[in-house]
Amino acid sequence: MSCPPDSPAAVSAIGAGQVDTSCPPDSPAASTLAAKGRTVLVTGAARRLGRSMALALAAAGWQVAVHYRSSAQEATETVAECEGLSGASASFRADFQDEAAVRALVPRVVRHFGRLDALVNSASVFEHDSAASFGFAALEKHLRSNTGAPVLLAQALHQHILARAAADEQAQGVVVNLLDQKLWNTNPDFISYTLSKAALEAAGNMLALALAPRVRVVGVAPGLTLTSALLSAQKFAQLHRLSPLGRSSTPDDVAAAVLFALENRSITGTTLLVDGGQHLMRFERDFSMM
Ligand SMILES: NC(=O)c1ccc[n+]([C@@H]2O[C@H](COP(=O)([O-])OP(=O)(O)OC[C@H]3O[C@@H](n4cnc5c(N)ncnc54)[C@H](OP(=O)(O)O)[C@@H]3O)[C@@H](O)[C@H]2O)c1
Repeated sequence: MSCPPDSPAAVSAIGAGQVDTSCPPDSPAASTLAAKGRTVLVTGAARRLGRSMALALAAAGWQVAVHYRSSAQEATETVAECEGLSGASASFRADFQDEAAVRALVPRVVRHFGRLDALVNSASVFEHDSAASFGFAALEKHLRSNTGAPVLLAQALHQHILARAAADEQAQGVVVNLLDQKLWNTNPDFISYTLSKAALEAAGNMLALALAPRVRVVGVAPGLTLTSALLSAQKFAQLHRLSPLGRSSTPDDVAAAVLFALENRSITGTTLLVDGGQHLMRFERDFSMM
């Protein structure tokens, strides 16, 4: 049986928040169709990697909730592009230093779209400190945004999926946490950032057990993907080649891994390293300090 992605029967059923059952559940066509009614919250999605992932997920049929903190104009542009791809998107502002704002985010998304099926934790603070300059203020700032917020959002998604499960036996959710290859290749730069991502990686394993069987939790760890204000274009190109494969990750590579993690129903409690093998090499300093 063929299952055209935009067949009226499929779309009308999906528009009502149901999953089309006329296709075999694991066929690619069914996957595309099923994504049509589903909603994903991508944090930090106004710019850079978050934006790339938002657009890739919209292109695959997901309704995208675009979270941002200060990049309001960029968030509006990302929403417009997502709407052009999947038909429904909206932006939501929240500062992840503020626990109440984090706790309110998933209910706001659910009120807007009627459902939430997936969460991509990409928003991140990345500020330099070292063993010499380390202090509680920097540690707390990184832990709030990079660890506490992703865990609270996963908790809220789980509660939402459990509530839905009362009426829908098939209700399932998935969380993708953006990590970093440097967890497998540590250097002493960005100590608070690295600690916060190491804690998120550990939290991912704990949550994979705690939120099963309704919600899966998967890590995606990019290598050097986008440049920073600390690097010239020439230096970035040179560092990007520093990997066993001769190229680190691109935004498209990372987005493809996130999409795979969202769609593959047997992956949980593990991390996909998407870095050209950079984690297998030894770097004495962070890329941005090289
Ligand atoms: N870029 C890379 O090469 C690379 C490499 C390895 C891992 N990663 C990981 O991949 C993810 C995305 O990377 P990226 O370079 O795109 O990230 P990024 O530019 O450093 O940050 C993404 C977004 O996080 C948001 N954010 C920062 N502080 C926040 C707060 N207190 N509350 C809410 N949002 C906040 C910002 O939103 P606003 O702009 O709206 O303020 C920012 O645009 C991160 O988790 C990062 O650790 C990236």
